[in-house]
Amino acid sequence: MIQEDYRAAIDVGTTKVVTVIGRERPDGSVEIAGIGVSPCEGLSKGVVRDDAATTQAIRASVQEASKQAGLSIKSAYVGLSGSHIESRNRWDQVQENPVESVITQEVLDASLATVRDMASDNTGQLLHVIPRGYALDNRHLVRMPVGMHAREIHAHTHVVKGDEESIERLRAATESAGIHVADLIVEPIASAEAALTTSERDDGVVLLDIGGGTTDIAVFIGGQIVHSAVLPVGGWQFTNDLVMAFTTSFEEAEELKKTSGSVTPEIASMREELLVNTLADGIDGPFSVTKRELGQLLKERAQELFRLVKGKLATPHLANIPIDRVVLTGGGAKLDGMQALARYVFQGRVRISGPRSLAGLDQQYQDPAYSAGTGMLIWGLRNLPRGSHLGVSTVNGAEVVNSGSRWYDAFTGWRKRGDRSSSDRTREGVSV
Ligand SMILES: Nc1ncnc2c1ncn2[C@@H]1O[C@H](COP(=O)(O)OP(=O)(O)OP(=O)(O)O)[C@@H](O)[C@H]1O
Ligand SMILES: [Mg+2]
Repeated sequence: MIQEDYRAAIDVGTTKVVTVIGRERPDGSVEIAGIGVSPCEGLSKGVVRDDAATTQAIRASVQEASKQAGLSIKSAYVGLSGSHIESRNRWDQVQENPVESVITQEVLDASLATVRDMASDNTGQLLHVIPRGYALDNRHLVRMPVGMHAREIHAHTHVVKGDEESIERLRAATESAGIHVADLIVEPIASAEAALTTSERDDGVVLLDIGGGTTDIAVFIGGQIVHSAVLPVGGWQFTNDLVMAFTTSFEEAEELKKTSGSVTPEIASMREELLVNTLADGIDGPFSVTKRELGQLLKERAQELFRLVKGKLATPHLANIPIDRVVLTGGGAKLDGMQALARYVFQGRVRISGPRSLAGLDQQYQDPAYSAGTGMLIWGLRNLPRGSHLGVSTVNGAEVVNSGSRWYDAFTGWRKRGDRSSSDRTREGVSV
């Protein structure tokens, strides 16, 4: 009767940490139970640089999501970003039998374990081995071969790796917040899950999640992921360009970018003048710049970002793939004119997307900045082994029951806050 299959996802971003708690309903749809957001200054370009600040932001966002959901979590999927993330596609022989045999799910699981072994070397920590299809004897790219017969099997996979030290730092920061890392999910895969439609994935699409410190890239064709990568450039660089050009504070530049910035400064209304407070010596009071001048700086940065994206897409395994559709997401996609500029640069259809509508997802989170957090939860629910993330979390060795109004007790099952008798309040090793 009780939903033990609630799971949690933590998107540890360069500007904010988002924790999403939810579950898959019996009809297959995903329901969000709670979301917690906390600003975070512990990362640079998607990688943890300040462990304590990161842990603090994770703890605050987990507490907020737990409170909203009325549920305590002890583990979560955690999103990994940073330019150390690298992907490649593999084509491996995973079975060669003298006679034909039936392909079962166990055979496929063993095939992926074989690929996993072959892909594990000293070039980074293995994060994902995603099956893209199988070749059975001479039948190519069979997606779901269970029940078919073959002598030889080749597996086509998308393999993602990352730098061990960066991964361990993120894991340690999460565990210091009392949350066990159930699985790491790379952010481009997470964002794509929330922001793309099935037909976009089938027809071919490039997903760009333009965040605060990174731009995550994922490319799909034929319903399969064929490329994933992370660029160490995001909205921070756009703002920093304004800081440098106008000798102003980061806060002032950020505000200016969000309220008056545009990457298509050619349009007439851009003659409008804006006042900027400067930190430059010898200038008293604010000085004025036109929207066009502001926009020109942002446009140059956006063009540079898209040029870097094109560079990342110039890999041999994408050579024969027509890419004429781009989907932008992430907070950076909200900068005025991004869609028009991307359309011009990539010469294709461009759409700005956020999390698709999910039961229980509040309006304020139907925003491109929340694609990674919600997508991570959906991807985990659909692709990773079942297993609830609910329970009592541990902070610095002591168990802590979050402030939810419901929690799962290993001995008595689900309970409500009001159910508790005072003698329950202190279990051995449990602070409430
Ligand atoms: N309305 C807006 N116009 C322009 N830029 C915006 C707007 N809203 C947010 N941004 C920018 O979006 C960026 C933050 O995006 P997001 O929340 O997706 O990043 P993040 O997930 O914390 O970081 P990352 O994914 O890079 O680790 C910031 O640089 C911010 O300035
Ligand atoms: Mg992000």
